[in-house]
Amino acid sequence: MKNLSPRLEAVASLVRKGRRVADIGTDHAYLPVYLVQSGVADFCIAADLRKGPLENAKKAVEEAGLEEKIILRLSDGLQKFEPDEADEIVIAGMGGILIAQIIEAAPWLQKGGKHLVLQPMSHPEVLRKFLITNGYNILCETVCEDAGKLYCVMSVEFCGEYIKRPAFYEYYGEIPQCKTELSEKYLSNLAFRLSRDADSMRCADPARADKLYKVSEKIETLIN
Ligand SMILES: C[S@@+](CC[C@H](N)C(=O)[O-])C[C@H]1O[C@@H](n2cnc3c(N)ncnc32)[C@H](O)[C@@H]1O
Repeated sequence: MKNLSPRLEAVASLVRKGRRVADIGTDHAYLPVYLVQSGVADFCIAADLRKGPLENAKKAVEEAGLEEKIILRLSDGLQKFEPDEADEIVIAGMGGILIAQIIEAAPWLQKGGKHLVLQPMSHPEVLRKFLITNGYNILCETVCEDAGKLYCVMSVEFCGEYIKRPAFYEYYGEIPQCKTELSEKYLSNLAFRLSRDADSMRCADPARADKLYKVSEKIETLIN
């Protein structure tokens, strides 16, 4: 079995066993191949917006001899999916804004039983804000380190309710609950970055700078 990168390993760790998986933006299909080979999933749809990545995916699936269990699909987000085809939806390796747009364009994700594993490469705060204002609940998050960078991965379900969250929740989500060395490092890097951004905009946009200082201070209080 091919080893996954630490980032994709963290994504795989949140995928629920025995469910039909859709991997959106699959590229090389490493994740679906791993999920089937390791017995986490029996069936995956590996989807991508572009033909080039799907060619890579085809090669990987054929090399693994998994053509019966991994179907390839050209699709912009979940546009070419029927609601009943998958119950575990993975969207990894894209920006948080694009991930939010893909979810918004597929309202059938709000049907009961769907579970989302989301791994934003940027703007996780925009993705969290979208999720919590649209009735999605972040069940837990994990933090991984890959090639010197830290990433969060979210386990998400639709609950349809407005849940009151603490101030600035969109910036840190469920990461404080992880209580691992990496999650603490993630939070302290984030607090540092926000306060540095605030410093740089103190004159140009004092109101925004003030907010970022407050977020940074709040995050400091969440670090053990
Ligand atoms: C950086 S790769 C990530 C591959 C893999 N998911 C991972 O996490 O390593 C991003 C992939 O998303 C695909 N992509 C970008 N926008 C997309 C969209 N709207 N729908 C489906 N796939 C998309 C790209 O073609 C590319 O193959």
